[in-house]
Formats: sequence, C-alpha cells, structure tokens
Amino acid sequence: MVVAPRAQWGSKLGFILAAAGSAVGLGNIWKFPYIAGENGGGAFVLVYLVCVLFIGLPLMAGEIIIGRATQKSPVAAIRVLTHDKSFWISFGWLSVAAAASLLSYYSVIAGWAMYYSFLSVTGSLTAEGAVFSDVFAATQAAGGLNLFWHFAFMGLTIGVVVGGVSNGLDRWSRILMPTLLAMLAALVVRSMFLDGFGRGLDFALGVRPEDFGPSSMLAAVGQAFFSLSIGMGTMLTYGSYLRREDDIMGASIQISALDTLVALMGSLVIFPIIFTFPQLGPDQGPGLLFESIPAGMAQMPAAGLLMAVFFFLLVFAALTSAISLLEVPVSFLIDRYGWDRKKAAMVAGTLVFLYGVPSALSGEGGLFPGFIWTIDGIVSNYMFPLAGIGLSLFVGWRMPDTLRHDHFLSGSKFKVFYGAWLTLLRFVVPVGISVVFLNAIGVV
Ligand code: PHE
Repeated sequence: MVVAPRAQWGSKLGFILAAAGSAVGLGNIWKFPYIAGENGGGAFVLVYLVCVLFIGLPLMAGEIIIGRATQKSPVAAIRVLTHDKSFWISFGWLSVAAAASLLSYYSVIAGWAMYYSFLSVTGSLTAEGAVFSDVFAATQAAGGLNLFWHFAFMGLTIGVVVGGVSNGLDRWSRILMPTLLAMLAALVVRSMFLDGFGRGLDFALGVRPEDFGPSSMLAAVGQAFFSLSIGMGTMLTYGSYLRREDDIMGASIQISALDTLVALMGSLVIFPIIFTFPQLGPDQGPGLLFESIPAGMAQMPAAGLLMAVFFFLLVFAALTSAISLLEVPVSFLIDRYGWDRKKAAMVAGTLVFLYGVPSALSGEGGLFPGFIWTIDGIVSNYMFPLAGIGLSLFVGWRMPDTLRHDHFLSGSKFKVFYGAWLTLLRFVVPVGISVVFLNAIGVV
C-alpha cells in the first residue's frame, strides 16, 4: 500500500488562523463576558490571564508538539510514542470521545445562532413587538426546528472538513477569521458610541475583589481550557499538519493572544449594549446572547443589520471551532482504518449529528429535558480536565526527551524558555487542573 504523505498547512499563517479559529468560538463571545462579569470583572480577567499564561499556553504547545512529532491523530500518536499497549493511550481515546461529545451539543447552540441569523435577515427579529425571551424559549422548545438547524450546521461542518487540510480547514479559516475580526471590530466601534459604554467597560474590567471568590479561580482555569481548545486533541491534530520548521511556542503565543483579545472585544460589544438599556441584566446565562443582545439591538438604529452581523459572526466563530472538533474523529478514522477523508467525515459527522439529537430535543417539553446542560457538565467537568491532566503528564514525563526538546526548539525564538515550559507541564499544569477536577467532583 502506498501511504500518502501527511497533509500540511499551506503556510505558518494558515496554521495560526486555523488554530485561532478553533480557539475563538462561543466560549469567547458568549461565555467569557458573562463569567468575567459575574466573578469580579477585572479581578477575574487578571486571574484568567495568569491561567492562560501558565496553564493554557504550555499545554497548547505540548499538544501541538505531540501532533507534529508523530504526525498522527491522538490515539495513534500516543501509541507511536509509547510503542506498546500503554495506559497512556486511553488519554488519546478520551480526547476523541470528548471532542465528539462537545461537538454534539456545540452544534445545537451554533444552530440557534444560525436560526437567529436567518430571523434577522428575514426581519422577524426586528418586527414590532418581538419579545426576545419568548423567541428564545420557543426556539429551545421547538424540537423539529432545533433538529433542522443542528443538521444544517453539522452539514456545513462536514462540508468544510471533507475539503481536507488545505482546501477545507486552511482555506475556510483564511476567509472566516479575518471576516469575523472585521465584524467584531465594527461592533466594538458601534458599542463605543452607546451611552452605556462607560458602565459596560467598568462592569467588565473594573476590579471588584468582593465578587471574586474561590470558585472564581476555578472558573478561570476552566474557561482558559475551554477557550483555548485544549484537552480535546484538536491542537494535537492541527499540530500533526504543521511543518517541521515552524515555531510551535511562537505560534501558541500568537493563538492564545488572539483568543484572549477576541474574548475582551466580545465583552466590549456585549456589556455596553446591556448597560445602555436598563431593563436588561448582565447575568442571563445562555439568554445573555439570545435574549438581551437582540432586545438591546432592536432599539438601536439599523437594528436588522446589527443583529445580522452579530449572529453571522457567532456562526462563523462556531464553525471554525466545530471543524477543528470534527477533524479529531475524522483523522482518527483515517489513521486507524485507512478510510478516505470523505468517508471518514461523512461517517463521523453523521454519528456526531445523531449523538446531538438528545441535546436538540432537550428544551422544555422535549423528549430529553435539560440533556444539553448535563452533557455539557460531563464534558467540562470530567472529560476535559482528565484529558488535560493526562496530556500534560504525558508530555512532561513520558514523551521521549529528545523528541520533545527537538520540537520545542525547532525554528523557535523561545529556546530559553524550554526549562520553564517543562517545569510548568510537569508540575503546575497537572496540579492546577487536578484542583479544578477535584473541586468539580466535590472532593475539595
Ligand atoms: N475554543 C472553543 C470556544 O471557545 C471551543 C472548543 C473547545 C473548540 C475545544 C475545540 C476544542 O468556543
């Protein structure tokens, strides 16, 4: 059998945009502003930055290194490095399962964003008398509607992934990411002209230590993982297409910085809108995005256009994250069974779609009430930290020294940080995540 050489990113920029596309998602635009606002604003942002720097960043580089060193997907990568049936391989399996689980309900939420984009284009969201809490409740409860948009979003995701690394992932990230940044920048500028800009800024960034409790610390660690797309094998898989000469630490710094910037920009769009219209509150959970923002925008000039830009932005952000999630099981199937990409993408995509059906039917009165939040809890509190601990210990202690060292240094401007990076991965990262995990299961 002739084995085709592993696909590669067209350039270093292609990799950075695709990996940043994975990182920038619903986590930045919806979750970050809300969690930051609830946990002391500026105090949370500071702690979050520390978590990104000392936990997220080293692990991201570690994941990319396993991928590039082996040129394989998570399970095969660990198998190659350990040469046997070692227990470390279970962490590879875990990340494939976690990626499929996350994508199954992420797609349902992205489906809501697609539906809202559609509603804003048809003018229904700006129609006189639209009550946004009703629209959102009705959306969640409408099983058929949710299934339809979940199907549509998975179809889009499969369509991009079938295109492969350079024609699918790389090309679409190059189109979607700059568009997303431009839309976000335009919305930030718009928010600057709102009356509530000062108060919004103060709420999101002002330090209120009294709101920052012990659980805020854990929220910050969790958010760093979710937002940077680590622990799911996505960075590992994207790293497997990275060229030998590219600087992994440098790329990880750029990706993390862009991800953090987008989260901050998201806050600068959302909170000024919330604080301009006194009837809206900043603590609406999922409703913050799907109720408060359209309710606020409806009262602004050019409401239809603003809403369309906002929801399309959300769909783009979710799509570049979803393709990275689907790529994990797809590259797993290609590596393991030798399937062609099209077959792997169709099969993995269909299975993930089916897996997401209970989440799509989890609104009030649906067949599986609340399922979407249960699976979210399992992924965020269990699968994700466990995979993170495994990967950090694996890179720190088990991966062959020379390989780890070579890939960190190759093409890097950050060679002097090798020792510090290794120490973080060996001790700080596993201990940090363990604390989150033990807290989630109620031990500490
Ligand atoms: N980082 C994405 C977001 O912020 C979610 C994600 C997590 C994507 C893990 C891939 C892997 O929405």
